[in-house]
Amino acid sequence: MDHFLYRDGHLHAENVPVAEIAAAVGTPFYVYSTATLLRHFTLFDEALTDVDHLVCYAMKAASNQAILRTLAQAGAGMDVVSQGEYLRAKAAGVPGERIVFSGVGKTEEEIRTALSGGIRQFNVESEPEMEVINRVALELGKVAPITVRVNPDVDAKTHAKIATGKSENKFGIPIARASAVYAHAASLPGLDVIGIDVHIGSQLTELEPFRLAYEKVAELTEQLRGEGHDIRRLDLGGGLGIPYTRSNEAPPLPVEYGQLIKDTLGHLGCEIEIEPGRLIAGNAGLMVSKVIYVKSGEGRNFLILDGAMNDLIRPAMYEAHHDIVPIVEPAPALEARPYDIVGPVCETGDTFAQQRDMPPVASGDLIAFRSAGAYGAVMASEYNTRPLIPEVLVHGDQFAVIRARPSFDEIINRDTIPEWL
Ligand code: LLP
Repeated sequence: MDHFLYRDGHLHAENVPVAEIAAAVGTPFYVYSTATLLRHFTLFDEALTDVDHLVCYAMKAASNQAILRTLAQAGAGMDVVSQGEYLRAKAAGVPGERIVFSGVGKTEEEIRTALSGGIRQFNVESEPEMEVINRVALELGKVAPITVRVNPDVDAKTHAKIATGKSENKFGIPIARASAVYAHAASLPGLDVIGIDVHIGSQLTELEPFRLAYEKVAELTEQLRGEGHDIRRLDLGGGLGIPYTRSNEAPPLPVEYGQLIKDTLGHLGCEIEIEPGRLIAGNAGLMVSKVIYVKSGEGRNFLILDGAMNDLIRPAMYEAHHDIVPIVEPAPALEARPYDIVGPVCETGDTFAQQRDMPPVASGDLIAFRSAGAYGAVMASEYNTRPLIPEVLVHGDQFAVIRARPSFDEIINRDTIPEWL
């Protein structure tokens, strides 16, 4: 469910007409709904009400500080994967005790920053990393709380580029080696080994892979406890998928996911952490773009937009589908026709959709990409010297620009010309 609905024939973000935002900030832009963000966070939070838990929003999905603060004020923790994300979460007002540090290759500098500023735990991905965390902690006179990310060798049944839980993936330590790795961790005085971490992939549309992974985590918890480790926290990662179309797609609901967690792990009495990103932010955001030209090709019509692959890379990178809808609600009698919907960047990969049925569209019309809140703005680049597009947050009948469009001068003046030129 989201809060982007047609009212009186015009697409609204909560109570604000999207066209009004377009008139104020220009196109293209991202717009997020506070109500949708909070609703999705609350669904997870309520799904785990009867267990000790913390929902740590995977901020890589959409990391604007206004989004972080919205969620943090509702009680969310954050899952960060870089020093930049850690500092951004802190700047948004998230206390260190609610920040979890994930990621395959944390550098010494990143570890030092997080340990100095306060951290809930590091999710450790390898033994060499474990040793660096231990060393830095000892240097700082601290003890670093850690979990070890285990790779359960489970097929997440999602796009290959976002599956992480198979043994051939670069993530975590093989579950079969857990015993040895935990013994190693326990021998390091700068570490406090508090739990187990697992994350098997993103955009999972079935619960079964989670079940397989969590059953393995349950078994491992008992085994490690038997070996003398005080396993008291389980970080179960993110990954629950969202519907990207309005048709019959129905991925499992957070409440069903929460029930699965309780069924597989509830008996262990551990504190549960989850790290959802996409389900919180994905359907809480639109990318709004303008049709520059409608071009008739050989047997095809192209809609050429002012938004491009640098603004929303998911279709080019993962063959991802985003519903694309006009801002003005089409009259029911209007017959849809197929368009190739493309951006102006000079490569064929800059295609959002091929032969997509759309109501008749004219140059100057505004259209919206749905489900663009997660992995949209954060994956944008300035390819073709196109400025990063603004982000807007709506709250009821108010809206605010939460990241402004940079000027061309700001972009161009970041370059420096060496003396010899
Ligand atoms: N925790 C860890 C350790 C992760 O690596 C990820 C996502 C998450 C949590 C959040 O997963 P989510 O709940 O959002 O599925 N750019 C891709 C998605 C990459 C996901 C990377 N890791 C896309 O646009 O589909």
